[in-house]
Amino acid sequence: MSQSYLSQKLLNMSESATLLMAQKARELGNTGVDVISLSLGEPDFDTPDYIKEAAKKALDDGFTKYTPVPGLMELRQAICAKLKRDNNLNYTPKEIVVSNGAKQCIANTCLALLDEGDEVIIFTPYWVSYFHIVKFAGGKPISLYAGLDQEYKVSPEQLEEALTDKTKLIIFSSPSNPTGSVYSKSEIEALAKVISKRSGLFVIADEIYEYITFEDKNTSIAQFEGMKDKTITINGMSKGFAMTGWRLGYMAAPQWIASACTKVQGQFTSGANAFGQKAAVTALKAPPSDQDYMKEKYKERKKLLKKLLDEIDGIKTNNPEGAFYFFPNIAAFFGRTNGKRIIHNADEFVDILLDEAHVAAVSGTSFGDPNSFRISYATSNERLIEAMARIKKVLGEYK
Ligand SMILES: Cc1ncc(COP(=O)(O)O)c(C=O)c1O
Repeated sequence: MSQSYLSQKLLNMSESATLLMAQKARELGNTGVDVISLSLGEPDFDTPDYIKEAAKKALDDGFTKYTPVPGLMELRQAICAKLKRDNNLNYTPKEIVVSNGAKQCIANTCLALLDEGDEVIIFTPYWVSYFHIVKFAGGKPISLYAGLDQEYKVSPEQLEEALTDKTKLIIFSSPSNPTGSVYSKSEIEALAKVISKRSGLFVIADEIYEYITFEDKNTSIAQFEGMKDKTITINGMSKGFAMTGWRLGYMAAPQWIASACTKVQGQFTSGANAFGQKAAVTALKAPPSDQDYMKEKYKERKKLLKKLLDEIDGIKTNNPEGAFYFFPNIAAFFGRTNGKRIIHNADEFVDILLDEAHVAAVSGTSFGDPNSFRISYATSNERLIEAMARIKKVLGEYK
């Protein structure tokens, strides 16, 4: 009844499929079933001790008050040094905004740039929140799909063709959630060539998985000719430093966009927490190789999981080069039955995995691809082996 008082904006928004699956898995787990969760996009590592120690010290040192809205100057300076060191980018602190997670940086940017009806091209499969943030900010999300046959990577020709007079913004992540694909340097450069030609066109480059790459290093699109004035580079502490719960992200952008985002943030949250920001200074100043042990583990798991997935008849999978996700195509199962249930689509596929194999994964539908599902491998080898054995057994019963 009271639903009728909710805003249309809110009613247009769907709940996060990832969180819904996590909840279903938890409910099943609460009944005593051993559920293996491969649904959440969260490192299974704890935050490194040296970062925790820095936060404890910051608390003792009295960093308990509001900070400047765009973040502590010391942190913005550390971010500029990091962007120079890792990304070949030159920024000043006025072009940096620190927020409560990369997610908020993306929301700030969309609220600052989009007017009703502005078109936003979202590379698809996409991270679920892009779509809803864009809609909430009044923009019109336009999905630009690249399938498994092109490693889920949009080509410059596709992008060129999708641009219209109304396109204002492009959003993509590399390394990608949900596919794990990583655009190579030449692929990024080719996209930059298309974008840099257009005035009034901007790009959000979400580099939150930057440190989790298995072959080539991440390439920042902002470094290419004509791109710095058009790029909002998004990054944060959540994935590379296993700091999801700290809620710390940042963006680097032309000063006028950074100032606009600071204005939005000033009204919404006043900025990120003070002692976390001090700890982030310590984290960003440390050599990125300090976190390599996480990357090595993900790489090992990826190899293992690729082998196990390839052994399951009907699953066609990609070979991700970063992040901690697989995004296999499962269209071969549609129409198959075990005599009791029929798999019609990816949503039913993941429901069957949960009900019958007790493995939680997320349907591709919510990522803009109804023929696939996402597996997060931020969990131990033992659990991955057990999960794949269960999945193989259950799917083997569907003919
Ligand atoms: C592609 C992508 N961008 C941004 C985020 C959000 O990161 P944060 O925890 O910094 O808000 C996530 C988290 O899952 C993500 O997968």
